[in-house]
Amino acid sequence: MPNMTTVKTTTQPSIQTEVDLSTYNTMALRSVCHTAYFLQNAADVQVALAMAEAQQLPVLVLSGGSNVILPDYLQAMVLLPRMRGIEVITEDAHHVDISVMAAENWHELVVSCVQKGWYGLENLALIPGMVGAAPVQNIGAYGRQIEDNLLSVTAYHIPSKQWQTLSRAQCEFGYRDSIFKQQTGQWLITQVNLRLHKDASITHAGYGDVKQYAETLAAAANREQINPGDVMAAIIAIRQSKLPDPKQLPNCGSFFKNPIISTAQFEKLQQQYPDVVGYVVSPTQTKIAAGWLIDNAGLKGQGIPPILTHDKQALVLTNHAPRLEIKHASQQDILATQSYIQQQVFSRYGITLQREPVWIASDGSVIEQ
Ligand code: EPU
Repeated sequence: MPNMTTVKTTTQPSIQTEVDLSTYNTMALRSVCHTAYFLQNAADVQVALAMAEAQQLPVLVLSGGSNVILPDYLQAMVLLPRMRGIEVITEDAHHVDISVMAAENWHELVVSCVQKGWYGLENLALIPGMVGAAPVQNIGAYGRQIEDNLLSVTAYHIPSKQWQTLSRAQCEFGYRDSIFKQQTGQWLITQVNLRLHKDASITHAGYGDVKQYAETLAAAANREQINPGDVMAAIIAIRQSKLPDPKQLPNCGSFFKNPIISTAQFEKLQQQYPDVVGYVVSPTQTKIAAGWLIDNAGLKGQGIPPILTHDKQALVLTNHAPRLEIKHASQQDILATQSYIQQQVFSRYGITLQREPVWIASDGSVIEQ
């Protein structure tokens, strides 16, 4: 078991039955679970799993709920990590290595690191969710991914009933992918270990309009060089201008992955659509902006109510049920809009969009596309 000090931050009873998870998933889907177990510390993990085994209940780990599509009923024990704490492991003139417990809020961590002069996470500001979920989909934005600063992950491997500390290589990171996503249901992450830099010049501002925005901020403060704080402020402003705040408009971020296609296919599309957006990922492959494909097909702000693409970023599906004061939206509602968008995009460009969030069945297992 990890020997980290943990801080109890909630007075919620640890175990509850028939819990409505609407407020525990950022899509605000109504999903009731058989049992919810709020994990206050690492020791709770084995207690909860033994209880689930005794009751023959499958388990599902629900972290910030910002990348998950839940069913109406979950005949499962839902494990909700609530362990908090941040510790410095080692520090020298150039780096600081920190250990962060799973239920720390990701964005608050990013802000507090930048304020302390610990850099590297600033491009990932304002990503919703908890730290423990961040490695699962290798959260990424504006040219950086968590893997760039990750040293290791401590997790409980449910099938073997063992604690493991996985190195970055063992996490098998890919684009929005990791061993934890490939083997959903097998891992419960309790702690993430990160390496941050003290040299402000390592900051990365190469993506899109980030640099220009950050330079404007630096100039306004009479500084010649941009610093990581400028990059973070620019990214916060850019995100706020296009991505909906789940508290105002429920959503789970990008709903589709940006497809990686052959550069030959991309060039063919470019002949037909000269302003199509793509990023070269290898000599033969190009990542194409799915948001552009959807937008250019006239589908921005469209879909099958109450689930619509966002009117400022077509890659995001939003749940308008609370606004429309109609019944709660369900997985079926999401599927209807997902299929509609996929069909429209395929018939126009011959490209199949793949869903990005994790789709959960009523027994807690994951359903692929
Ligand atoms: N675009 C449009 N119309 C749209 C949306 C996008 O024309 O409705 C164009 C943009 O103008 C831009 C290009 O498509 O030229 C790419 O758009 P953007 O920079 O907004 O990023 P994205 O590729 O749509 C990805 C991530 C986001 C991340 C941003 C910034 C994925 C699936 N999504 O979106 O991640 O914040 O880049 O790095 O890779 C998430 O994972 O939940 C998420 C929001």
